[in-house]
Formats: sequence, structure tokens, C-alpha cells
Amino acid sequence: MKIISAEFILSAYKSSHYPNDDLPEVVLIGRSNVGKSSLINSLVNRKGLAKTSSAPGKTRSINFYRINNAFYIVDLPGFGYANCPKKVQQGWEKMIAEYLECRPNLKGVFIILDPRRDATEVEHSLYAWIERLSLPVATVFTKTDKLSRSELARRTTAVKLSLSMEKPVLFSSITGIGVPELGKRIREMTASGA
Ligand code: GTP
Ligand code: MG
Repeated sequence: MKIISAEFILSAYKSSHYPNDDLPEVVLIGRSNVGKSSLINSLVNRKGLAKTSSAPGKTRSINFYRINNAFYIVDLPGFGYANCPKKVQQGWEKMIAEYLECRPNLKGVFIILDPRRDATEVEHSLYAWIERLSLPVATVFTKTDKLSRSELARRTTAVKLSLSMEKPVLFSSITGIGVPELGKRIREMTASGA
């Protein structure tokens, strides 16, 4: 996917804040610190566009990035951030649920996983939830630079969110592997021809 423009548009905490144009959107969802914001930066080749941090819990709002004036990539706060007060985490969950369930512009969901960790109940129920919403879903294994090729092959078989889960996109924001494949999937979901 050729990137002509990539802009941060706004941060939202509720539906009334969302952009009110009619562009299609894809969303990134996953555990805190898994590399969602870094993935956006790699994809658009702009280092500081999405704020990242080695400490989990960096992204705290729903952030909208407009790409090529054709579609949005939406970055969500991560879940399962252990040091986060329960009240705050519940607030994020409500915010994420409102977005996933009530946003007609949403055309596809990317579930981002670190293949070094087993998927937990949270990821399994998330996958089932997205399937119930009948949204196209793709999984992405990030930080693949941390695994050898054989370990990666082993983990790709081991980490399965559901029997229907398709082969994950193997990604690394360090090496750039997976960027073209991810661009292709986004283009298919948004059917924007961007
Ligand atoms: P939250 O906003 O807390 O939900 O986190 P996030 O999922 O947006 O993660 P973020 O992109 O901020 O990255 C977290 C940490 O992982 C940072 O220290 C990144 O540099 C690192 N990281 C992200 N992607 C990769 C990757 O592909 N490979 C390696 N080795 N490190 C990565
Ligand atoms: Mg983030």
C-alpha cells in the first residue's frame, strides 16, 4: 500500500467524539504493550505518529489516524494492564465495547498477539465476540523478531484463538516484516483502493 498521507486526527472517549465523515475504519485490538501503536508507525513509515512506550498502558483513548484521506486506522487502549486501577480498566472496556458494537464505519478488526505468550481467556472471548458481530477479523503476530524461525513456526501452531482462525500475519515493527501483507488486508477490508 502506497502511503501518501498519514495524520493523527483525534482522540475519542465516547461515540460523540468520533470523526463524522464516512470513511471506512479498521481497528487494532490487543493486550497492552503488544505493539499496536508501533505497528501503525511501521505501516505508515512514520516513527512518532502513534505514541509508544516500553511501559504498558500508553494508549488511553481511542485514537483515529487518517491514511491517504481514504480510511482510518483506529488504535485502542490495550487490555490486561496489570497495574491499571480496576475502575480505569472497566472504563476502557466500556469505551472499547461502545466502539466495536456501535460504529457503522468499522469494516474490520485486527487482533494483535505476541506469539511468545499463550492466548488467555480474554483473547478467546474477544475473538468470539468479534465473530458474533460478523466483522471481518484477522490476527497479527507481532514482535516476531524475538523468535527464531522454528520457534515461530511452533508458536503459530500453538497459539490459536479458535478453530476458524486463519493463518496470522507475521509482523515485526523492528524488521518491517509483514508490512505489505498487512497493507493488503487493510485494503481488502476497506475496499478503498487506496
Ligand atoms: P498500549 O498502548 O499500552 O496498549 O501498548 P501498545 O500495544 O500500543 O504497544 P507499543 O506500540 O507502545 O509497544 C510497546 C513496546 O513494545 C515498546 O517498547 C515497543 O518498542 C516494543 N515493540 C513494539 N513492536 C515491537 C516489535 O515488533 N518488536 C520488538 N522487538 N519490540 C516491539
Ligand atoms: Mg498503544
